[in-house]
Amino acid sequence: MRIAIASASGQLARATAENVLEKVSPDDVVLVSRNVEALADFARGGVTVRYGDYDEPESLPAAFEGADRLLLVSLHQLGHRVTQHRNAIDAAVAAGVRHVVYTSYIMVHPDCPSTVVPDHLRTHELLDASGLEVTYLRMGLFAETPVTQILPPAIARGMLVDNTDHAKGAFVHRDDCAAVAAAVLTSSGHEGRTYDVTGPELLGFDEIAALAAKVSGRPVGYLSVPDDELDAQLRAAGVPDEVRGMIVSFGVALRAGYGEPLTDTVQRLTGRPARPIADLMERHRALLTGA
Ligand SMILES: NC(=O)c1ccc[n+]([C@@H]2O[C@H](COP(=O)([O-])OP(=O)(O)OC[C@H]3O[C@@H](n4cnc5c(N)ncnc54)[C@H](OP(=O)(O)O)[C@@H]3O)[C@@H](O)[C@H]2O)c1
Repeated sequence: MRIAIASASGQLARATAENVLEKVSPDDVVLVSRNVEALADFARGGVTVRYGDYDEPESLPAAFEGADRLLLVSLHQLGHRVTQHRNAIDAAVAAGVRHVVYTSYIMVHPDCPSTVVPDHLRTHELLDASGLEVTYLRMGLFAETPVTQILPPAIARGMLVDNTDHAKGAFVHRDDCAAVAAAVLTSSGHEGRTYDVTGPELLGFDEIAALAAKVSGRPVGYLSVPDDELDAQLRAAGVPDEVRGMIVSFGVALRAGYGEPLTDTVQRLTGRPARPIADLMERHRALLTGA
């Protein structure tokens, strides 16, 4: 069983590769990236590293050649990533890959208002029509987003402002998502399955602000404002249209309950419990305390 991991220099893909290499020989692993230099440490360890760019479809079939199973990590660029994913799926078919593991998103549902969802839905359609065996990993809300992006400015301001109105989500460590992806890539029986990959607890941003106050030793209040008010605040702060749309629609989706699935997938597939968000705050204590 030869395993290919695409977009391998990214954080989720790289962590998955590290987990995979704890279980299988480097001979059985192919890492594909636009940035092969960033994977030199893997190459030195005997892993095959190949160039592949989803925007250069001609680079992909050779990059995936010989792989039985492929990790396809969803990309970032809204809209355009459907074309990028299509290029990767077509290349997987052309290269004779049998099984694709796709990192989808917990909120993926036809009615979900989050602006990141339609691209995933379209990618699901492409995969379902491809003839490939597919496993969908519906990754939960990465805990890294609140801990490293939302909390530092909120702590500085003494207030976390959003539009989520105490709605809750099961935030999951990206490393736990990587461990689940590695478990699926290195064991059998996951074809045709969909897994919701979540953290161990449901928390609202009010509770996350309170945890941040404890870790940072500084007061962090919480205020939920209407969608248009949040949008206006973000616009005034110079946040680009697309990002504003993502942030505001995320809040709307969270209020509608799309962040609420709570599963034991991490425990079941990796044999150890999902880690709470407080652990990640400890890991980033210096960032949160400004030390
Ligand atoms: N669940 C959540 O809350 C959440 C939050 C944020 C993001 N996400 C999703 O999870 C994905 C992985 O997150 P991450 O933190 O690992 O992101 P990251 O560290 O920023 O990695 C971005 C990835 O995109 C790849 N990429 C960009 N352009 C590419 C192209 N033209 N062809 C092939 N690959 C390309 C990069 O691969 P190379 O440079 O190696 O080619 C890299 O692996 C994101 O892309 C996003 O879809 C989910």
